[in-house]
Amino acid sequence: MSPSFPPIQTLPFSGYSVVNQWKKWLLCGQFIGIIFRRVMKTKRTKIKSLLDSPEIGAEINVKGWVRTKRGNKFLNFIALNDGSSINSLQIVVDLEKFSEELMKDVTTGACLSVNGKVAKSQGAGQSVEIQASEIKVLGVADPEAYPLQPKKHSFEFLREIAHLRPRTNTFGAVFRIRHAMAFAVHKFFNDKGFYYWHSPIITGSDAEGAGEMFRVTTLDPANTPKNEDGSIDYRQDFFETESNLTVSGQLEGELGALALSDIYTFGPTFRAENSNTSRHLAEFWMIEPEMAFYDLEDNMDLAEEFLKYLVQYALDHCAEDLTFLEKRLIDEEKNKPAVERSEMTLTEKLRFVAENDFERLTYTEAIDILRNSKPNKKGKFQFPIDGWGADLQSEHERYLVEKHFKKPVILIDYPKEIKSFYMRVNEDGKTVGAMDVLFPGVGEIVGGSQREERLDVLLAKMDEMNIPKDEMDWFLDTRRFGTAPHSGFGLGFERLIIFVTGMSNIRDVIPFPRSAGSMY
Ligand code: 4AD
Ligand code: MG
Repeated sequence: MSPSFPPIQTLPFSGYSVVNQWKKWLLCGQFIGIIFRRVMKTKRTKIKSLLDSPEIGAEINVKGWVRTKRGNKFLNFIALNDGSSINSLQIVVDLEKFSEELMKDVTTGACLSVNGKVAKSQGAGQSVEIQASEIKVLGVADPEAYPLQPKKHSFEFLREIAHLRPRTNTFGAVFRIRHAMAFAVHKFFNDKGFYYWHSPIITGSDAEGAGEMFRVTTLDPANTPKNEDGSIDYRQDFFETESNLTVSGQLEGELGALALSDIYTFGPTFRAENSNTSRHLAEFWMIEPEMAFYDLEDNMDLAEEFLKYLVQYALDHCAEDLTFLEKRLIDEEKNKPAVERSEMTLTEKLRFVAENDFERLTYTEAIDILRNSKPNKKGKFQFPIDGWGADLQSEHERYLVEKHFKKPVILIDYPKEIKSFYMRVNEDGKTVGAMDVLFPGVGEIVGGSQREERLDVLLAKMDEMNIPKDEMDWFLDTRRFGTAPHSGFGLGFERLIIFVTGMSNIRDVIPFPRSAGSMY
């Protein structure tokens, strides 16, 4: 029989046990240290939560960037902003308690950590303030070099310093609203049982058939491998085929809808169109819902409900930022001639859209209205409307929305020649079940359609429009196996943000705009 040893824990003085005891003490000490540091260090309070529910007399810590500093020999007033709210917090500094050396570094743009007591404010413009007891300058901002001085800067100037402009009131408000709208997009679809579907960003297809794509390649541009006929041999490229950045997640979205019923994509979209307008970006974000068993009317109903929901969400959740942007617009309008001034304020416009039905009409009806319109008769349109079949330009869309109906408009049933190959051909054989939603101040905000689900009709259409069928076999399989009526649309996220914020240039509603000829 082999000798048996008592279990280790019964050996009170074994080396093993002593090590264990030490470890326990060490851990205990570390734990006490953490607690001690936690208690001693005042937790940072965000300025928004402080202003929303101030506790007078509480000792707190705030951190943020100096917007302005003013005052006299005895007192300084610092406006501190941490981006959590449009409102800055007033910090009152008794200059007897702080060195001149320190206060020299408290300049516009500097980053501070401030401890102090919450007090009712005597001054106008804020209800509470902080009486500072400790100020740490976390980061200085040399006033000679810091480009954001407390004065009005033009948007053109701010675009050149896109990396700093989120620190201004206007851009802070725009980007907070942008966040709220992105959140509302997910909430709307999630509440309706739609699934968030990730279409690829690198694709081999040109979903819109427009051919305005950015190529993705790892080939050396100075030394591309060639086929015998002199063309580039993409079989030697990374994906062994031509590839590009997506212009739309729709076609892959259709695969999702024909399996999960209701899906939506929300992703970056790239178009190399050379439209240097205030409504086009080369990199923008698009939301594309795709629904099995929806016809064009269901599609319109969803688009209208979705847009109203988003606008109402902004009114309900972004009131302070909207009020700020509205005041900014009112000031700006004062410089305009009376006829050019908007009849409604920003929030009135938003409320109007959220509460009123959109006007729905066919392309053919719209052409009649435009042909007989005053600007057309007086030769005021840059592109005169003389017949059926022409594509509508933004001047026409804006006339319909801003002058004729004075409300959002949904135009349907466009001539098939001016729309994409995948749109469902109507019984007249001339038009397709397309729909564009047009918004005041924006023009086209949504483009969508019922999809052509009949394989033979789709194949004929692809032939007519020179869409290569062999590369689209994966797409055509949905029509071969269990095809179903379905519809969808795309909402340009930045165009939505233009409408909600009242900003006039699309470059000012995305943190880092990319458009032809410029990359900020
Ligand atoms: O009308 P579009 O080209 O439609 C599509 O891409 C479809 N695949 C959508 C679908 O049915 N799933 O684009 C949809 C929307 C436009 O109405 C516009 O709001 C926005 O995307 N958009 C742009 N936004 C910014 N910059 C650009 N270059 C844009 N091009 C389109
Ligand atoms: Mg379109």
